[in-house]
Formats: sequence, C-alpha cells, structure tokens
Amino acid sequence: MTWFKALAVFGQELITDPRPIGAACPSSPRLARRVARMVGNSPEHYVLEIGAGTGSITSALLKHCVPPERLIALERSASMVRLLQQRFQGVRIIEGDACELTSLLARSGVSDLGRITHIVSSLPLRSLQPDQVQLITGEFLKLMKQRTQLIQYTYNLRHGSRELFDRLYQRSSSVVWLNLPPARVEAFSTVPATEPRSGSRKRPPAKPAPFVLTGGTKVVNASPRH
Ligand SMILES: C[S@@+](CC[C@H](N)C(=O)[O-])C[C@H]1O[C@@H](n2cnc3c(N)ncnc32)[C@H](O)[C@@H]1O
Repeated sequence: MTWFKALAVFGQELITDPRPIGAACPSSPRLARRVARMVGNSPEHYVLEIGAGTGSITSALLKHCVPPERLIALERSASMVRLLQQRFQGVRIIEGDACELTSLLARSGVSDLGRITHIVSSLPLRSLQPDQVQLITGEFLKLMKQRTQLIQYTYNLRHGSRELFDRLYQRSSSVVWLNLPPARVEAFSTVPATEPRSGSRKRPPAKPAPFVLTGGTKVVNASPRH
C-alpha cells in the first residue's frame, strides 16, 4: 500500500514539476542500502537528509543507521512531506527549499547544527538551475565541520558530482547498477581521506541525545539536552 501510494505521489510530482524531481522513479532498495552503508551506524551519528521525496532513502537510514530522533528530513514538496509524516513517526520532517537550508533549520528550532555528522542528499543537482545549485552547495558548506560527510548520488556515472563540490575531498565513490537509472554514490568531506577526522578517536556518549529542538516546535521522541 505504502509502495503504491509513494509511487502515485512521486508520479504526480514528476508530471507537475519534473525539474526538481530529476528522476524517473524513487530510488531502488539497492541504492538506498548503499547510501545507508556509507553512513554506517554509530551512536555518534546525526543525519540530515535533503530531498527525502517519498522516503526510499529515509527508510533505509532508519533501518540501518540512526533512530528517528537523530534524523531530520527536508523536502520541498508539500504532498511528499505529508506522505513522509504518515510513514515516519518521530522523524523531524521539514518542508522547504534547500537553498535556505540553514535558516530553515534555525526557524524549525534545530539549535544544535554542529551535531550533524552526515548530510545525505538526493537533490538532482544536475537538473536544478545553476544559481540554485550554488546556493545549495554554499548551505552544505556552512553545515560541514571536519567530521561531517556529505553523501550525494547522481545519474552521471562518468563524472559524478565532484565538480560541484570542488572545495571538498572525495572520500569514496561507487556505482549502483540496480537502480533506474544506475547511480554513482559519492561521499565528500572537508578533509582528505588520509587525515583522521576530528573526534574520530573520541568515545561515543553512553546514551546519545536526540537533536535539540527549541522554540515551541512539535517534538516527538525528544528528551532534554544533557
Ligand atoms: C531524485 S528525487 C529523490 C527522492 C528520494 N530521496 C528517493 O531517493 O527516492 C529528488 C527529491 O528532491 C526534492 N527537491 C528538489 N529540489 C529541492 C530543494 N531545492 N529543496 C528541497 N527538496 C528538493 C524533490 O522534491 C524530490 O523529492
């Protein structure tokens, strides 16, 4: 049922406004698992998903990487946001444009942006307008500390997304053939692979706190800051 509903919402959006969708259908389970594997699973992980769509990647992130209180999902389409809210209880879902990412997060009451360890982006950066892409990559950079990884997939198998993130280092890259179309998934960070990421030797907290949300926002599964 969810699968059919997701496909219907995705198809409707694709017909109405194809450019920001930038894909023929939602990501395959294989692509979603690859992204999740690149994120990994640790009590230190806090994930910000951009362009969550109908939730293919969201679902894999929740299954393999983080509990709902350590995941924030951003999506611009109101109908997709409604579907995400129905599908994923406890995940903070924000409706808005990634061009305004940092101010959107602040307005939504996410006060501890420094906690974000992974940005997972499904944005179709090759089909968006160049000025939008410039704003979005600038917003990503604002959020990226030394330990943050950006995971982005693209259907440009040959070149990937490297030229769009020329201020970042590519940490890994691989192709997922079982997707329509096949996709290249890449991880980027602000430090080269040889340098240890700051905090990588720190022990994780015994009980990780959820993202801290302030300002009267509706919070599910959140407990007070430690
Ligand atoms: C290729 S689809 C991926 C959907 C889903 N993550 C998946 O993998 O099936 C891209 C998604 O990014 C969203 N999107 C595009 N531009 C956006 C923007 N500027 N801000 C937020 N979301 C955006 C679209 O609405 C769409 O849901």
